[in-house]
Amino acid sequence: MKFFVDTANLEQIKEAQALGILDGVTTNPSLMAKEGIVGDANVKAHYRAICELVDGDISAEVIATDFEGMIKEGQELADLHENIVVKVPMTIDGIKAIRWFSDNGIKTNCTLVFSAGQAILAAKAGATYLSPFIGRIDDMNWDGIELIAQIADIYSIQGYSTEILAASIRNPLHIVRAAEAGADVCTCPLKSILGLAKHPLTHIGLAQFLADHKKANS
Ligand code: E4P
Repeated sequence: MKFFVDTANLEQIKEAQALGILDGVTTNPSLMAKEGIVGDANVKAHYRAICELVDGDISAEVIATDFEGMIKEGQELADLHENIVVKVPMTIDGIKAIRWFSDNGIKTNCTLVFSAGQAILAAKAGATYLSPFIGRIDDMNWDGIELIAQIADIYSIQGYSTEILAASIRNPLHIVRAAEAGADVCTCPLKSILGLAKHPLTHIGLAQFLADHKKANS
């Protein structure tokens, strides 16, 4: 399973990159706004900066909601760097745009996915990645991981090549369960990635090893 970090914060991206396990980055308009990145020129400069930090797929989301607007904006984003993946919302115009980008050799990430029906449509349109938002589904008292498993089954039965990118990750257990359910990629907050390394027995065991080593060598 590939690991993407889900942030527009350059320091967090650097920290995730330093782990040596990072395959890409996802952003969205809320994450860009959180970093105070406003205005077309600044947004584009920020995407370029992310592409310079990480050699992997970098999702950059269109703001336009109509087909023509998405194509124009998506082409501009794709022109910024060869690693840019155009992130397109799951709407009727979004599906048409994904088909257009796919036919024109531009990678896409279909975002805001909450059902298997949406997943089938995006795969048929040729999406490179599909982003089911598992945390937001869980927030609604449904089961986000169950959706990942259902989509993984459908894609396997139908032979679709779209990669399942588990998004809206809230904790390390989401990552483990998404991997188990068949996600191809997880995009995670840095905190959830770091959380995977934690186990109290590891810390207790290491403290004991170091104490025994010190005692024997003193
Ligand atoms: C990923 O591409 C999404 O933008 C992101 O995972 C959404 O996460 P949230 O539900 O925590 O905002």
